[in-house]
Amino acid sequence: MTPAQPRFDFPTLAYGGDYNPEQWPSDVWDEDVALMQVAGVNVASVAIFAWARLEPSPGVYEFAWLDDVLDRLHAGGIGVLLATATASPPPWFALKYPQSLPVTADGVRLGPGSRQHYSPSSPDYCRHALQLVTQLAERYGSHPALLGWHINNEYGCHVWTSYDSDSAAAFRLWLHQRYGTVEALNVAWGTDFWSQRYGSFDEIEPPAAMPTFANPTQLLDWDRFSSHALLALFLAESQILRRVTPDVPLTTNLMGFARQADYWQWAPHLDLICDDAYPDPSDPQAYVRLCAQRDLMRSLGGGRPWLLMECATAAVQWRTTNLPKPPGLHRAQSLQAIARGSDGILHFQWRQSRAGAEKFHSAMLPHAGAQTRVFREVCALGAELSQVSARFVGQSVPARVAILLDWDSWRAVEQPSTPDRQDYVAHLLEWYQPFLRRGITLDFQPVDADLSSYALVLAPMLHVVSQATLERLGAHVSAGGHLVVGYQSAVLDQNLHVWLGGYLGPLQRTLGVHIEEWAPLSPTQDRTSDSTQLVGQLNGFGRRWQDIVVPQDAEVVASFADGFAAGGAAVTRRREGTGSAWYVGTLPDEAAFDALVGLWALEADLEPLMATPTSGVEAVRRGETLVVVNHTAEPVEVPLITGIQHLEPFGVHLSDS
Ligand code: GLA
Repeated sequence: MTPAQPRFDFPTLAYGGDYNPEQWPSDVWDEDVALMQVAGVNVASVAIFAWARLEPSPGVYEFAWLDDVLDRLHAGGIGVLLATATASPPPWFALKYPQSLPVTADGVRLGPGSRQHYSPSSPDYCRHALQLVTQLAERYGSHPALLGWHINNEYGCHVWTSYDSDSAAAFRLWLHQRYGTVEALNVAWGTDFWSQRYGSFDEIEPPAAMPTFANPTQLLDWDRFSSHALLALFLAESQILRRVTPDVPLTTNLMGFARQADYWQWAPHLDLICDDAYPDPSDPQAYVRLCAQRDLMRSLGGGRPWLLMECATAAVQWRTTNLPKPPGLHRAQSLQAIARGSDGILHFQWRQSRAGAEKFHSAMLPHAGAQTRVFREVCALGAELSQVSARFVGQSVPARVAILLDWDSWRAVEQPSTPDRQDYVAHLLEWYQPFLRRGITLDFQPVDADLSSYALVLAPMLHVVSQATLERLGAHVSAGGHLVVGYQSAVLDQNLHVWLGGYLGPLQRTLGVHIEEWAPLSPTQDRTSDSTQLVGQLNGFGRRWQDIVVPQDAEVVASFADGFAAGGAAVTRRREGTGSAWYVGTLPDEAAFDALVGLWALEADLEPLMATPTSGVEAVRRGETLVVVNHTAEPVEVPLITGIQHLEPFGVHLSDS
């Protein structure tokens, strides 16, 4: 963020949610404001899906109702994040501009009647959206209720890519700008494979349905382009807002780990990182991803506070079976979001809808009204947040370990025609979890970040990586830092060309190993299990994968006892001055990972908050406060380094640390 960008500065923790008054008659609005006050609501996100109400026919704008809503909220002491309302064009728009509708890879044009039915590259959509944004900015830019702009909504949630002709043209332009000449593109894409050589940019199409595997670099470039096209829309709106209302901060709501948009590229353009998170109450492991998602949001903002823009008080309606959150779970998840850097808790939505596709999605104020468990919990949470606000608001969360998150690697390992199709985020979470068990906070970082403040850098499945990045990772170790590289890292360069000669490129020197071959461990081949025993300085098993690691200048910490790589190195370490470089050629199981994290913590002088690895709970420090959370429905004794802490089911403990 440049210093010129305005900031959201919440004096107290924000509390509230999406407010969709257009779904209700105006006599309900008075009750809304009164009950918001009872609940302690101080922020409402307004008009997110109101385009059809704001512009009922082309160029005809109706703002009187929104004036009324904003005035009422302001009179009630509630600040407004005003949406630009561009996430769902009205039916007249689709009728007038049918070519703006998105097209799937199979050539199906998606119709109106739900939401987000526009191609990200449609010039008609963009032009109309910007007209609406200009109107809103001019009308409400100085409204006293306005806290900031909420641009669009969850870019790419449903439609993140479109194979229509506008997108194809925009893709060709983007490729032209990226490569300059078609020959450079041919080299990058390796088009001498399968007779794919192009004579001009005009011959290139989006990678829609094809007989078999598409060109991998074309696929990767399509993913990069699609993220860019969404970001271009966001930037077009923000440019208008920055011009008309230069002092008003702006944001949009991100979606946690979202493969469709490279959030490292987005983050600098948001004045506040905002996130939507809907952990599944029926999944006892959901807290792991939730913790990581919070850490990602904090990391996207360079460590600054972020905001939980949407979550559910109880059940959602979009899973097959939608369990409510049991009493206490929403409070626990809210406080842990605050503990990991959020400066507030906003929900989808304030009042549960009476009609429409989300009528069974929970809200702050349920169908049954204010005399309900959910509303009582909402009021209690509002009161509690206002009590603890001063401890947390604006405070930072210290972390001395970085884990690299790289969208190109993510996209590449999930492509077809790979040794073993991976779920990249699930893999990262496997690495995240043993640190969570020890109460060691991680930051996520992009590959081009300055990593010098981190004692330990983790690079799991950093599959796609440039020479420059590999050299910088090596330099981290030479400077006395610690680095751990996981299997399937540095296999390809940014064009998805293989790093020849044993993979790893210049990191071979740093790690003291190269990789000769690999073997995914599969219970469907000649084995009954997908794990293999580790022997040496580690007890436990390796899962999913065996690298044939060739140590040249590295100590073997653990070897494979069986399987294709039996007798070969599984985990190695090379010391360099006070630094160290580890290679992990398998996915350690819980015991092996816990042992490794213990070694890394000692080596990098980390300070775990847990005395022993513990699942189902988390411990994290924000500002001067230690927060310990029980994510389970059972009471637990948490073995903190400072002593045992008893927690009730979904209990939360706050103390000065
Ligand atoms: C997303 C959207 C909201 C709503 C919720 C429901 O987060 O942004 O408009 O649809 O999902 O969970």
